[in-house]
Amino acid sequence: MADYTIKVRRFQPESGEGPYWEEFNVDLDPSLSVLDGLLQAKDREDGSLAVRCSCRAAICGSCGMKINGQSGLGCKTQIGEAQELADKQASATGSGGEGNSIVIEPMGNMPVIKDLITDMESTHWTKIRRVTPWLLPHGEPPEREYIVEPESMIDITQSMACIQCGACVSSCLSMEADPDFIGPAALAKAYRFVGDPRDAETHERLHDLADDPHGIYDCTHCFSCIDACPKGVAPMDQIMRLRRKAGEEGIEDPNSGHDHEIAFVKIIEKKGTLDESLLLQESFAPGVKGKLKPSKRAIREMLGSIPTAIRGIKTGKMRSLHKLIPGVHPKLPDQDDVKAIYAHAEEHNEEFNLYIKGEEGELAEDDVEKGIERSTDPETSQEVKNG
Ligand code: SF4
Ligand code: SF4
Ligand code: FES
Repeated sequence: MADYTIKVRRFQPESGEGPYWEEFNVDLDPSLSVLDGLLQAKDREDGSLAVRCSCRAAICGSCGMKINGQSGLGCKTQIGEAQELADKQASATGSGGEGNSIVIEPMGNMPVIKDLITDMESTHWTKIRRVTPWLLPHGEPPEREYIVEPESMIDITQSMACIQCGACVSSCLSMEADPDFIGPAALAKAYRFVGDPRDAETHERLHDLADDPHGIYDCTHCFSCIDACPKGVAPMDQIMRLRRKAGEEGIEDPNSGHDHEIAFVKIIEKKGTLDESLLLQESFAPGVKGKLKPSKRAIREMLGSIPTAIRGIKTGKMRSLHKLIPGVHPKLPDQDDVKAIYAHAEEHNEEFNLYIKGEEGELAEDDVEKGIERSTDPETSQEVKNG
């Protein structure tokens, strides 16, 4: 047994007061969970402490919360580990020492109902419904169940592992800036149906998610949802898969998100490093085939961006202005190695992003098994093969 201090952000709406912090001392084995600590405090010190939980085994998804600033499940986080992190964070900020308080807050990006209980309906569930989270097959249903090859389901087993806890939503930086962003959990759910061989409306789904200005291209690749997810769903990976499929289907999006990704690939292939002066024009409208040359639309869009650029300069967000002058950015002296990487990737059908890798059509039987195992393993979830 060890003594821990948990510092809980509380909010009791019936009191008419704003949120406040309260500390509780608990006495637990380090291998028990932060949720066990909260339940002990509720049992021994204050029965009004509100926390949502059910299974206490990382299955039901009820106990999402922030622990030392990180979103996750209270029942899956050992209190001993939470203490170590609290001490590490204190030493990084110079306050040092051991036995620092373990800070527990309600999940972010959601309204707080009471103490650690958030309103999942207004953000999480509304967004889940937004992506039509059910199968849309065409034609007459079979007499019995739909039969699919196991291999064809590998690609979606990872997204199927979601327990709807909302930890990824809580940690999403894009959602903080744009509350209308569909968000990591709902987009992971969308991939679960886009990748399902029984669904017949893949194109319509992709078009809908790409066309929405708060859809798949609103994610900024911050990796936060991958860190937060307790089930290895890696929502950002699922978003990248949606983007890949939307690109393959030739879907144009109003944000030029797909063109933006192509622009990165094309500029680096030509110059070896990212020439930011070309990124804007290429993102808005890819230049003449194979060349880095602005089209009329690109020039029009760039002129329209001038007010944004001026705001960036005024607020100090744009400091390296010279980088935006065409021709200033140097080209790597030897481009052969870069071209060799591109050639290798194309030959082996690997993608130009870091999240998904694999060679299509090469799944042996034991790969199938490994794929399923990897897809549910948070440590290696990024190695899931493209089925
Ligand atoms: S990677 Fe994208 S979806 Fe995930 S937390 Fe960051 S912005 Fe949100
Ligand atoms: S993707 Fe992960 S973090 Fe997000 S709701 Fe599902 S299980 Fe929770
Ligand atoms: S209580 Fe069910 S996931 Fe934590």
